[in-house]
Amino acid sequence: MRIAIVQSRPAFGDPDSNLEGLLGAVASVNADFYVLPELCLAGYDFEDRPEAARFAERPDSPRLDSLARAATDRGAGISFGFAEAAEGGRLFNSALLSLPDGRRRVYRKTHLFAREKLLFEPGDTGFFVEEFRGLRVGMAICFDWIFPESFRTLALLGADLIAHNANLVLPWCQRADFARAVENRVYVATANRVGREERGGRSLSFTGGSVLVAPDGSSLLELPVDEPAVRVAEIDPLRARDKRLNAWNDLLADRRPEFYAARRSPEPTEDTGA
Ligand code: ACM
Repeated sequence: MRIAIVQSRPAFGDPDSNLEGLLGAVASVNADFYVLPELCLAGYDFEDRPEAARFAERPDSPRLDSLARAATDRGAGISFGFAEAAEGGRLFNSALLSLPDGRRRVYRKTHLFAREKLLFEPGDTGFFVEEFRGLRVGMAICFDWIFPESFRTLALLGADLIAHNANLVLPWCQRADFARAVENRVYVATANRVGREERGGRSLSFTGGSVLVAPDGSSLLELPVDEPAVRVAEIDPLRARDKRLNAWNDLLADRRPEFYAARRSPEPTEDTGA
């Protein structure tokens, strides 16, 4: 199964030209599943909610449909981020998972980062996994990575591959993906963007360096830090199903959730001898 990571440099506020670039990137390689960055059509740093609303789209909009079809018409799956216009004027930082059999599902980012809290509602879909052609894909968006519970939940749901659409501004995730992959024995595909956005006196630089990490922590893909790129690597989903580290340890079966609730142990009481 061939996984493609598309790393792009979106122009803020120009979804049509960004779409054209992404269509070309998807068409440039053959893969079974494509992972694209977060908010890859309109750009990232919206000034305020009205501006985010202007660029937000319904999951069945013609633009999203044509990006989804760029993969599905060729018999492949795809996951990409977009600003979602939902019922009741709500906005979400979302990702569309589109599969060649026609299934489409939207994941809404669970953990919003920084000013995103001014723009979007916290995601309400929760984490999910969909299977196609023997690959179980779990969805996550950018800052979700810093909460280990996100990828752990996807592993517990049976994900082989975590499709992680990102617009990273912090420099840690690409290295942390090693830990996320080995602690869950899953493939992690972080599709990040490059470039800079200067908006409202703010300056954001995106860190590129998209990665595909295998369940044993080995690096299958490392994209450049400063330019758009598309890379493909072969994975074997079955490698993510075996959670045994050795004859004694299974990473999921050995969990002790009864000890994971963050409660304080009672203070030892003094023995008064009474
Ligand atoms: C991020 O969550 N886009 C940093």
